[in-house]
Formats: sequence, structure tokens, C-alpha cells
Amino acid sequence: MLVDFRPHTRLRSQKTPITISDSLGPVVDALSESSTDLSRVRVVCDWVQYRQNFRDAVELRPIVSAGSGSVEPQPVPEGVRDDDLEIAIDVRRSADHSLRDLTHAALSAHADGGRDSGHVPLEDWRPTRDSCIWDFNALYWSALDLWEKATGQAYEQALPGGESDARNRDAARSLIDELFAVWDGLADGDALPPELYVVELGVGNGNQAKVFLDEFRERDGEHGRGYYRRLQYLMCDYSPHVLDLARETVADHAEHVSSFVLDATRPQSTLGFLQFKVFLVYISNVYDNLPTDEVAQLGGRTYLVESRAYLPRDEVTELAELVHARPDQIGELVQKLLRLGPALLAEARPEHLGGPDAAVEFWRRAWSAVRLEERYVALPGLDLYELAPTVSGEALRPLVESGADIRMHVNNGAVASFVETLPLLHPFGRLICHDIFVTDAGAYRTGFKGPGKYDGSVVNWVNGQLLAHVGRRRGFDVTYAPFAHRTGTNIITMTAQVRD
Ligand SMILES: C[S@@+](CC[C@H](N)C(=O)[O-])C[C@H]1O[C@@H](n2cnc3c(N)ncnc32)[C@H](O)[C@@H]1O
Repeated sequence: MLVDFRPHTRLRSQKTPITISDSLGPVVDALSESSTDLSRVRVVCDWVQYRQNFRDAVELRPIVSAGSGSVEPQPVPEGVRDDDLEIAIDVRRSADHSLRDLTHAALSAHADGGRDSGHVPLEDWRPTRDSCIWDFNALYWSALDLWEKATGQAYEQALPGGESDARNRDAARSLIDELFAVWDGLADGDALPPELYVVELGVGNGNQAKVFLDEFRERDGEHGRGYYRRLQYLMCDYSPHVLDLARETVADHAEHVSSFVLDATRPQSTLGFLQFKVFLVYISNVYDNLPTDEVAQLGGRTYLVESRAYLPRDEVTELAELVHARPDQIGELVQKLLRLGPALLAEARPEHLGGPDAAVEFWRRAWSAVRLEERYVALPGLDLYELAPTVSGEALRPLVESGADIRMHVNNGAVASFVETLPLLHPFGRLICHDIFVTDAGAYRTGFKGPGKYDGSVVNWVNGQLLAHVGRRRGFDVTYAPFAHRTGTNIITMTAQVRD
């Protein structure tokens, strides 16, 4: 049996002390009491810092190696360790549950082929990037007003630190001063184009755009070279509702702002006309909100993590009572909610929902209840795994094939967005992105990096080394630095620009 205890620093924590015996002992006891082949079990312990998340305190994850299930036969590397099962423990919650009972229950449900798991699936197994949790995420942004009205809380309050660093005036000013320095140089050589393009992906309520535009106008007044007159600020988001909000926020700068409904994972579809023209692409807290898979190297083999969203059966019973439905109708109501949104769902199903407020309540309760089952499925080869439409899984090789066991996010949405955005940059342009990046692969061995829930949205940390590697392959320098204008934040600033 292998035990991977990731949050080891907490063993010495004064504030939230934990012990190996409390968090691991009951699970190992339950395993010993079962008929499981202990030589083929991994036990992993995480500290899941997100209070709202997709996990139970104890989870069981089947490990499907080559030759079984739907996986193509593949050459088996010498010396691989073929495990059958992973038991995952959320150490943060270990005091609140009987881990031994939970482990017994999970093992017997597994032995029974999952029939007695108490899980009501919302979908079939699939790569996590295709799970319906991303439909919930998109719904949140498209019906943000209804959600915020129900909670009385703005989405920014759920971000790290309770507000978006995108609103930081010092950060905006230093960015603008750097832009002006580049433009002065180009203007002196008569090489500055007439239109000065800035693109923002994922604009939220528009506060980032407003801070940037207000500061820009003020700095330009002092600088005196008329850059504000030439500025074209393009706000892009996939939620028309969010774009409406943002347009209102920057109404004062309307002549310099245009807005585009676009999927940040495919910016070229709308912005292709800007190739080599954009001086600044500005992104904050968006990459962590784009669909992602996780890939793992376990015992010498590479696996894709597949997921299946489900609702716990007792939560289904409660939801059914809430909307006067039978428990077996809840799955279909959730699917309809994701397709139609709460307002239309209320119209389509008046017998269950008395109006939009009831539909929002149903949405919030269903979202809070959603969990993910996971399993590992051996990858037939990294070259056969599509990381993004133009990026093969080969890009992962230097990161996952270090020899040691590791599980990491591969941020498919962010990688796709990044590689389609780079060609938009002017040779002196830059992509600046504030987000929660993992810049040291070792951090995947000691910390939980998602998924978590921020209100109605999904959050996963972003694999900084992977983006840097992909960017370098395309001739860009990609650097990371702690966000310079607020202390005590997890936010890191990524800068990508054409290599000198
Ligand atoms: C957490 S908010 C960040 C807003 C703002 N940049 C900030 O820092 O406060 C994420 C934003 O990204 C947008 N978004 C998420 N996924 C997207 C996608 N696939 N395409 C375009 N926009 C997306 C959401 O609609 C939302 O406006």
C-alpha cells in the first residue's frame, strides 16, 4: 500500500493541528478489515481548502490500467506499479466524520459495482473538461444578476482577498506607464499605428476596464501625446449579460470601447482581424475559470482523470421535496436548468417552480450538492491526448514524466486561449494575466489546487510551467511574478511577450 500525505506542513500547524493517526488510521483500519488487495491500493490525503467543493471526506477512485475497459492496448513500461484503487481523504474534514464508516461504505459500494453508492449520476464518465460542472459555470455568468440578487453578494466577494486585483489602481498605472514608454519609442521612429488596441478577456462587471480607462485618460492628459484619442479597448466575454454590465460601468469611455461576445478559449474566431496589432491583452481571474482536465503519473504510467458529476441521494430527496417532484425527475430538471436557465425553466415547469426565484433556489441548492466521482484511465500515449486544438499532449511530457508520482491540472481552456491569443500581439505587445498560478510543479505534491466552488462558478489553479513551456515553443518569453501591488495575496502576474 502506498500512502501519499500531501498537507504535511499542517502536522506542525498551531492553528489547525492534525495528526496522521486521526486522519489516516481509521481509513487504513477499514481497508485492513475489507477483502481489498492492499498491495494494489494508494491512499492520498489532501487538505481541501475550499469550503464549497466537489468532494466527500472519503472517496474511492478506480484506477483503470491499459487493457481494461475501453483503453487501447499499449506497451507496458518495465517496472510499473499497477494499482487498482485510490482512496482519497480530505484531511480538513477528518474530525467531522467517521472516516472508518465512510471507507467501509465506499469499499462495499465499489465491490457491489457502485449500485449502493448513494450517488445519482448527472452524466456518464468523461474527461473533466467536458463535465456538466462547466455548464453550471457558464450558467452562473449568464444569469449572474439572478444569483447575486438571491445571495445579496457580488461575485468579487468570493475571489481571493474578497475583491479583484484587476481594480488595483497602482497596477493599472504602472502598466499604462510601460505602454506609454513603448509607444513613445515607436512614435519617435514613426512606427506607431494609428489605432492602439487593448483587449480584455473575461471582463466581469467591467471594474478592471474602468480602472484602466480612467487611469489611462488621466495619465495621457499629463503625458500629452494624445494616446487616449487613439485607444481602442475591446471588452470580450462569453456572457452577454456580463458584457451589458461592463458596458454600463465604462459608459464614460464609450467612444473608445467596443464589446464582443466570444469564448475566451477561441479568441481567433472573433479577433483574428487583430493579428499582430494588439499592444496589451489583459486577463484577470479568467484562466482559473476555464475547463480543465487533470493528468496523473502513477507508478510509472500516465493517466487521465475522468469524472462523473452526481448528486448524493439524500440531497436528491430534499431537492424533490423543494420542487414538488419525484426524486427520479431531478436529473432531468437539472439538465433543463442548464439548457434553459432559471427564468425559462420556471416558465417551462410551472408545476415544479412557482417563478424565477424558486428556480434560482433550485439552481443554488443543486449546485451546492453537486459532487464529482473520479477515476484514472490510462492514456494510450501522450501524443494521442489533445491538450488543445493545436497542442498535442506531448507538451506535457517534460512535466509529468519526472519519474515521481504527480497529478496536475493541464488547463485545456487556458492553453487553448493562450495559444490563440499570442498571435494577436504586436511585436512590442504583451499579454498580462493576474491569476492563481502554480509555478513550481512540486506544489502539486503538497497542495490541493482545485476544483473548488466560488459561489456559482468553478475554480482551478493554473499550471504556470505548462503555459510557459507552450509559450516558449511559440517564440514567447513567459515570466511569473507575485502580484506587486497587494501583499498577502496568492495572485501571480504572468507576462508573455515576443522573445528578444
Ligand atoms: C472571475 S470573473 C473575472 C472578472 C474580472 N476579470 C475580474 O478580475 O474581476 C471571470 C470572467 O470570465 C468570464 N468567462 C469565463 N469563462 C469564459 C469563457 N469561456 N469565455 C469568455 N469569458 C469567460 C466570465 O463570464 C467572467 O466575466
